[in-house]
Amino acid sequence: MKVLVVGSGGREHALAWKIAQSPLVTEVLCAPGNPGTAQVARNVAVPAGDVDGLVQLAQSEDVGLVVVGPEDPLCDGLGDRLREAGIRCFGPGAKGARLEGSKIEAKDLLERHRIPTAGSKRFDHSGRAKGYLESLTEWPQVIKADGLAAGKGVAICDDADEACAAVDAIMEERRHGDAGARILVEEFMEGEEASVFAITDGETLLILEPVQDHKQVGEGDTGPNTGGMGVFSPVSLVSPRVHRQIEQRILIPTVHALRQEEIPYQGILFVGLMLTDAGPRVVEYNVRFGDPECQALVRRLKSDLVPILIAAADGCLADVEPPEWDRRPVVGVVAAAEGYPGSYRKGSPISGLDEAAEVPGVEVFHAGTSERAGEVVTSGGRVLCITALGETMDEARDRAYEAFDAIQWDGKFCRRDIGRRRARAVELEGATEE
Ligand SMILES: Nc1ncnc2c1ncn2[C@@H]1O[C@H](COP(=O)(O)OP(=O)(O)O)[C@@H](O)[C@H]1O
Ligand SMILES: [Mg+2]
Repeated sequence: MKVLVVGSGGREHALAWKIAQSPLVTEVLCAPGNPGTAQVARNVAVPAGDVDGLVQLAQSEDVGLVVVGPEDPLCDGLGDRLREAGIRCFGPGAKGARLEGSKIEAKDLLERHRIPTAGSKRFDHSGRAKGYLESLTEWPQVIKADGLAAGKGVAICDDADEACAAVDAIMEERRHGDAGARILVEEFMEGEEASVFAITDGETLLILEPVQDHKQVGEGDTGPNTGGMGVFSPVSLVSPRVHRQIEQRILIPTVHALRQEEIPYQGILFVGLMLTDAGPRVVEYNVRFGDPECQALVRRLKSDLVPILIAAADGCLADVEPPEWDRRPVVGVVAAAEGYPGSYRKGSPISGLDEAAEVPGVEVFHAGTSERAGEVVTSGGRVLCITALGETMDEARDRAYEAFDAIQWDGKFCRRDIGRRRARAVELEGATEE
């Protein structure tokens, strides 16, 4: 069977890498892919946003499964279009993708089904939003653009002046375009942040291993937010009791809600959570794998991913054996270009990729690279995700940084503390299990 992976980042390289190992798969295609995916797949120059082009490609290549990486094509209805054409797709249709595509609709669904989340108000008029904010006495408050804003549409504001400025930027200046036509003003939730990933066919849930990313650019969680600077797994933050609460109070009710509202859903359910004193509450839904969380998950997944994706797409996930996970921890370090998440230089030649790949347990996934005259050059802010398995979190981390140090380009940087935050707790917990 041929499998088409849609997208061009580190997540898609990791998916293509894992899918290519399946004995069920004759060839992996990636649209449009990157120099990393080219090592395991055939890149086809169809952009991830070209829904017509992707449907045509899947038809002409007689693809047996399409796996959609990013959220935008899902929100644009790629999943529906493929299914209408009789092509199997892992990824929800446009209705399901609204969970991520509209924070207001997601909030409506959460409230209709009494799933725990932050209290909120909705506004489609900036004057009314600002009037409301000026009347508030409790701070901080969270201002959210309704639509897709590439992770930049949320502002946590400490007073009314700051909040009104955020409202103006989103609703008046339209910093995120039409995504800012409506906003949510949300109660600030106190607690530790966590996320869960589940694969679902709209009925059965397969909860994946816990992973944790590092959103901020600087060591010790400082500086501006990024797409994600690193990742590790497993994570001890979520105790078995909290895990059960997340499943019982959030994941299962979400799938029930989707069914009750007749929203078919086959794909990833990625739930952002705040672990508050009153229990876990939903921060947001995403409808695709996280990047770099995906890179860590595929490294620890020992089972074949393809039968799981097919079963989810076909609505028979209940028939699938629970997957096997590698006991070993994984650390993924993002190698970024100087200046990121602000403006950064593109086109710097990258060397040392072969040396990095020789470090034991290491797999380097390309995120923002392209090819120029036979040479791999940087083309994005997050350039690579260097993943390593090790017997311990420390070993995994040492290997990832050894590989990072073997790679060279002008202006390369990373966070040196990936996986440090909770490594000790993970290992202690592991030790008591023996
Ligand atoms: N109600 C809230 N209380 C506290 N922090 C929040 C709240 N909502 C969002 N955040 C913080 O803002 C970040 C981004 O918000 P999120 O809803 O995940 O939007 P997006 O990922 O689309 O930018 C979250 O990861 C969290 O750190
Ligand atoms: Mg988020």
